Amino acid sequence: MKVRKAVFPVAGLGTRVLPATKAMPKEMLTIVDRPLIQYVVDEAREAGIEHFVFVTGRNKGVIEDHFDRMFELDTTLRERSKQAEMELLERDQPAAGAMSFTRQQAPLGLGHAVWCARDVVGDEPFAVLLPDELVLNTPGCLKQMIDVAHDLGPKANLLAVEEVPMERVHQYGVVGVGASKGKAFEVSSMVEKPPREKAPSNLSITGRYILQPEIFKILETQERGAGGEIQLTDGMVGLAKSQKFYGLRFEGERHDCGSKAGFLRANIAYGLRRPELADGLREEMRRYLKA
Ligand code: G1P
Repeated sequence: MKVRKAVFPVAGLGTRVLPATKAMPKEMLTIVDRPLIQYVVDEAREAGIEHFVFVTGRNKGVIEDHFDRMFELDTTLRERSKQAEMELLERDQPAAGAMSFTRQQAPLGLGHAVWCARDVVGDEPFAVLLPDELVLNTPGCLKQMIDVAHDLGPKANLLAVEEVPMERVHQYGVVGVGASKGKAFEVSSMVEKPPREKAPSNLSITGRYILQPEIFKILETQERGAGGEIQLTDGMVGLAKSQKFYGLRFEGERHDCGSKAGFLRANIAYGLRRPELADGLREEMRRYLKA
């Protein structure tokens, strides 16, 4: 199965990290020195994705600008012979024509956001990456999924999953576990944000999906579910009647950067991975912890 396109739902309001997100998209919050959206685009690129589809909304224009060339900056860096900075910008830049932007005009839910990408994705399998979740690992989460998806057949759907404590299952989509299939397992049921006693397991859906295009037809008429929103998980339950869903327990540390605590933790974790910052950061942290 060849997965060429990835969808990034970036229309969300980011209410969990207000007031930071009042005038700035949450996807532009910075982990060390790069916006969240850059990390997920890089993860998709590493996995072989060739086209990047952003489902944006009002006040999200700066995301588009971030991936554009900035003529004044390029010229100034060149004039000042700032080679390292020029290379850095070049590295982050997707190829011309490799990005599409479409809008979700109302906050109707993740399922609706994905449905808004239907015309740009067309009739081929695609990935979905939720930018407020980062997975720190090499290879990245989507690369691990694509490697596994190859052996699952042409019409398989695959979800990245991770164990969470039972008292947190109500915050996530949760899957039931069926038979093993290589590194993956068959998903026997899916439910969005179940109360603890209704959860089929403690395996939560992380924000990484490989889906078949038939999901769009289902999402078109999907009724509102948990939280009054059109849920992607509910659409997947519909698709599971005719296609297989698999789960993959990925390797790596998941960071929920859409919450304040998760965002702070991600900054520390990613900062400690940077050779030029790690020693100083470790020392500062020791000092604060002693105080
Ligand atoms: C969404 C999905 C949920 C998934 C979660 C991962 O929920 O609906 O199934 O587990 O992302 O972050 P949200 O966080 O948008 O409420």
